Amino acid sequence: MKRAEKFAIANFKMSLVNQIDLEHWFTSFHKAQKDLKLKKTSLVLCPPDIYLDRFSSQFKSGSIDLGIQNCFWVEKGAFTGETSPVAAHSLLGANYVILGHSERRRFLGETDEMVALKIKTALKARLRPVVCIGENEEQKKNDLLMEVVLKQLKNCLSQVSRGLIEEVILCYEPVWAISANHPDHMPSSNEIMGAKLLIRKFLLENYGANAAKRTKIIYGGSVDVANVEEVVAQSGMDGALIGSASLRPYDLVKIAQTIDQHDFEEREKSRQLNSRTKTIY
Ligand code: PGA
Repeated sequence: MKRAEKFAIANFKMSLVNQIDLEHWFTSFHKAQKDLKLKKTSLVLCPPDIYLDRFSSQFKSGSIDLGIQNCFWVEKGAFTGETSPVAAHSLLGANYVILGHSERRRFLGETDEMVALKIKTALKARLRPVVCIGENEEQKKNDLLMEVVLKQLKNCLSQVSRGLIEEVILCYEPVWAISANHPDHMPSSNEIMGAKLLIRKFLLENYGANAAKRTKIIYGGSVDVANVEEVVAQSGMDGALIGSASLRPYDLVKIAQTIDQHDFEEREKSRQLNSRTKTIY
């Protein structure tokens, strides 16, 4: 496949922790993806790095891409317990890394400044960073979405040059929608589109028109089979970061298929054409 236009990125978090669960996931996934043909979407699996090699050996053909859920901001050295982005890429075959996830910010005190350093090192190590940004519940209540998202973008991308911005995948993931699994706790497609426009505006002002158009923006937070059409396709996002639903292989495959089949830009063009035609006649 040529360079992917869209992304279905599975964040397994700290799940599938024993042999039975892992084998069960592999067996179901192989069955589920038997007829899967993605034309423009990359399906990226991000398991915990301690068993990334198990995934590498399962998916040698290259139809599936691999990523990690975090990496350190230095390539190598005396940093006990950390993951080197260089090793993740060269030894384990990872091509992506999720950075700045709200769970790491919350439980491990990760800051925008740390995320910025990690993005810089990841890019140097040829890992595409999937950078999570989004407001929490309290910030949402106080109407701070714009302020929070712009501050995170400014800080997290502070070390990314014009030449590399298109390698970064930005994930708008409102913290209050993560693992919520309830329609009341999901942003509407209009709200998601609003966040996307805000991110595009930031890119336009800081990186120029081409980057604003080409940098990928995906959505994360309780994406599942039932809502993927609305929160990803109808919102015009370039894909999704999928947490709990990725533990259900058939659902994950269905979500990736839906992302692949919907072409927001094409639909927008034909919608505009239709309304123009109606005005003329
Ligand atoms: P969720 O997780 O799909 O379970 O909400 C998404 C994430 O945290 O990346």
